[in-house]
Amino acid sequence: MIDHQTIEKIVDAADIVDVIGDFVTLRRRGVNFIARCPFHDEKTPSFTVSSAKGLFKCFGCGKAGNVVSFIMEHERLSYVEAIKYLGKKYGIEVREKEQSAEEIIRNNDRESMLIVSGFANIFFSDTLNNTDEGRAVGLSYFRERGFSKKIIDKFQLGYSPAKRTAFSEAALKAGYREEFLVKTGLSIKRDDGALFDRFSGRVMFPIHSLSGRVIAFGGRILQTDKKAAKYLNSPDSDIYLKRNVLYGIYFSKQAISKLDKCYLVEGYTDVISLFASGVENVVASSGTSLTEEQIKLISRFSENVTVLFDGDAAGIKASIRGIDMLLRHGLKVKVVLLPDGEDPDSFARKHNAEELRGFLDSAEQDFLSFKVNLLSEGVNDPIKKAEIIHEIVNSISVIPDLITRNVYIQKCSRILEIEEKILSSEVARSRNRQLASDNAEKPVDNEPPPVGELPPIPAFVSNIFCQEQEKELLMYMLKHGRENLFRTENEEGDEVIFHVDEYIIRDIKNDDLEFQNLQYKKLFEEYEKLLETSPDRDTPSIIRHFIRHSEIDISSVAVSLLMDTHMQGNENYTVSKIWNGTNAVTINMTHAVPKALAAYKSKILTIAIYKLSEQLKTENEDEERFNILKKITQLNEQKKFISNYLDRVVIL
Ligand code: CTP
Ligand code: MN
Repeated sequence: MIDHQTIEKIVDAADIVDVIGDFVTLRRRGVNFIARCPFHDEKTPSFTVSSAKGLFKCFGCGKAGNVVSFIMEHERLSYVEAIKYLGKKYGIEVREKEQSAEEIIRNNDRESMLIVSGFANIFFSDTLNNTDEGRAVGLSYFRERGFSKKIIDKFQLGYSPAKRTAFSEAALKAGYREEFLVKTGLSIKRDDGALFDRFSGRVMFPIHSLSGRVIAFGGRILQTDKKAAKYLNSPDSDIYLKRNVLYGIYFSKQAISKLDKCYLVEGYTDVISLFASGVENVVASSGTSLTEEQIKLISRFSENVTVLFDGDAAGIKASIRGIDMLLRHGLKVKVVLLPDGEDPDSFARKHNAEELRGFLDSAEQDFLSFKVNLLSEGVNDPIKKAEIIHEIVNSISVIPDLITRNVYIQKCSRILEIEEKILSSEVARSRNRQLASDNAEKPVDNEPPPVGELPPIPAFVSNIFCQEQEKELLMYMLKHGRENLFRTENEEGDEVIFHVDEYIIRDIKNDDLEFQNLQYKKLFEEYEKLLETSPDRDTPSIIRHFIRHSEIDISSVAVSLLMDTHMQGNENYTVSKIWNGTNAVTINMTHAVPKALAAYKSKILTIAIYKLSEQLKTENEDEERFNILKKITQLNEQKKFISNYLDRVVIL
């Protein structure tokens, strides 16, 4: 834990131009700096750094953030590691937060366990390389498997002596405490108090954390005929949670990120053999089915995952279920099916590096097509076929991205020979069910920005007349005010549904704006009052209220707005519901309303800038001129921000 003040001090001290300048060549352009983006390949620079705002953004790939997130992203560090990096750069001592006695013990325990694991790692590899037993038994085994000296050293492979107490004795003699030998699972304490080695007589595969510390081991038995398990692994502990860890990730993370692709295999030897053949972007799930944590870990480095399947049909059907989870996390999943009887390790050893690469590239196929083909092979029975369709629909429906879903619907409809329309409505139904059953999940496709994402209009801008925009907003309120716009969470974490009218009112109030057309203003205020006093009204009742209003001023404006044909028949304006009645979300409102608000503000800014420029023409006082210029600059910045934003909502 780093205390808050230290973090603040470091973030304040860090100059984003200075920090990013250590990694890319920045050139000044206007108030900003630009460079070729370090996160994607590009010829012309679209990576922009604003020193004043302390932010970076790439207009090519969309990556954006502050000085800390740049270091996290670029150097693949955790938040705390990034803060420490910056602290070091700026000579600020990183004081860890005062810990409770319990925390201190826990962290000291963890550290002690890591140190013991490090010792064990050295002990095992030393035994492998420098003892007669190790060389005769362990090293010869690895060499027989075709592992070179170089690859053995790289993965720090080792050997645990056959004598059942060899490691434990050595560790105790070197001063390590029994407690941590047991906690890491390296030693096992028998009921009679005697200490034994967990891994005796096995070749050792150390498992590294993301930052390269040894946190656990896998040990492989040598005599294949024995009843004992082929692999023994360290038990879960304070430093090793199997579900959080992928074998090989420490060695492969750079390649995964650079090649933007991750091969997923099953075992230790698969990773090592692929590495030996030059395929370095590979990790293993270590024989268990993938966990959410492991998927999140992969997606920190790339969203493209290619699963290598052994060429035995039985295993495949069992493991494809786990792969839907990759889809659910928005990863792009491909598969490579290895020839019958091969696993990645055996295949890699039988072919040279070039053949291996060639095979991986040419045999790679899209996961869902693979799954459809696999399931429907030789199936003619209509009931079976319906089951398959059901299964595929489920797989497609978990994909978060709309466009990707549609691509799959097209593909699968062709393979399954069923109409695209049917498949697509099944997928929609399945999604509705999921959304309904999982209330916490927000709609992913149609989310408008939160209120107040746009910079607030400065207080010195007031009384700007833009009747058309005011009118558009009022029309949305009157005609669609009671429709659900989107769901979000408030600070307490409760779900809040924003209706169209609430969103508009809140956004306008947030900016302290007032409608300038006096009739519109009156209507707006009346609407606000109405919502306050009876928040449960529906749209027809609101419309009735206005057109029957006793003040002729209000009722006549309401009628003319409702009768206005200007926007009727405009496609953008049609409302379609993607959910059932209770959670109705209007597809186009979610774009149209924030867009109308942004357009309104943009218009206000344009006029305000114009007015200020006019003022500048007649102003002779230097100080006053300077003030006006400052205001104009500020408004221009904001306007630019809003146009960028409008570009984004328009293409949504
Ligand atoms: N595994 C395990 N315990 C076992 C068997 C397997 O933990 N009893 C894990 C290991 O991580 C292993 C992976 O599952 O690497 C894949 O198992 P398998 O294909 O049987 O092993 P291989 O990696 O092919 O090992 P080898 O080639 O050495 O037989
Ligand atoms: Mn194998």
